[in-house]
Amino acid sequence: MNIRLEQPQDYREVENLTREAFWNVYRPRCTEHYVLNQYRGNPDFIPELDYVMEEDDKIIGHVMFSKAKITLVDGTEYPSWTFGPISIHPDYKRKGYGLQLLQYALGKAREMGVGMLSMEGNIDFYRHAGFGLASKMKIHYHAEPWESEVPYFLAQELIPGYWGNREGSYCPPKGYFVADEHPKAFEAYEATFPPKVKLRLPGQLGYEE
Ligand SMILES: CC(C)(COP(=O)(O)OP(=O)(O)OC[C@H]1O[C@@H](n2cnc3c(N)ncnc32)[C@H](O)[C@@H]1OP(=O)(O)O)[C@@H](O)C(=O)NCCC(=O)NCCS
Repeated sequence: MNIRLEQPQDYREVENLTREAFWNVYRPRCTEHYVLNQYRGNPDFIPELDYVMEEDDKIIGHVMFSKAKITLVDGTEYPSWTFGPISIHPDYKRKGYGLQLLQYALGKAREMGVGMLSMEGNIDFYRHAGFGLASKMKIHYHAEPWESEVPYFLAQELIPGYWGNREGSYCPPKGYFVADEHPKAFEAYEATFPPKVKLRLPGQLGYEE
């Protein structure tokens, strides 16, 4: 297993990997590969934290990071960071690769001075890498009531004391909404990949019997 920075010649392979990893997991189809495709040209993108993982002579994992902001209660913006998509190829899931990739990238992020991270995700995976509920750090989620404990909204201080006793609200950077904002461009991009079956499945967000 090897972890290295993503190179331009990897882009298509990594976007296809992201599509394979997320397909029908959170919703019918997925848009995370398009988010990644568009993010590389975004000033929030952090090329020094754009990692691929190789095994068996191919890329089986990827993670990217982004600059972000938290709006404090007094209205000022506090520099913050986020990450994702993070992908492990379906054939290699639940073998410890995702955690190894994430822990490697978190170490590099800390060395670069990334003070904290917040993101949406499954606590059952991310707790292994030191994440907890953001609500417990008094970080509120933009799309939920101020006082609610949001089970899918997670955070971690990488540099002790960086967040301290502050309180604020987080909204993911604009780059994560690109597929919703440009649906036609997304469809044109999606059409460049081999067809895959779109399914509504139990476990997806908002799935109801
Ligand atoms: C999420 C993902 C990156 C995790 O990588 P992985 O290599 O499969 O996970 P690991 O084997 O390193 O998991 C370590 C531990 O985290 C937990 N875990 C991992 N994935 C989990 C999941 N989907 N649900 C609940 N717990 C999970 C487990 O406790 C696991 O240990 P175990 O296998 O002994 O039970 C990968 O499964 C993936 O690409 N999923 C699809 C895309 C996605 O959901 N990305 C994250 C979006 S927030």
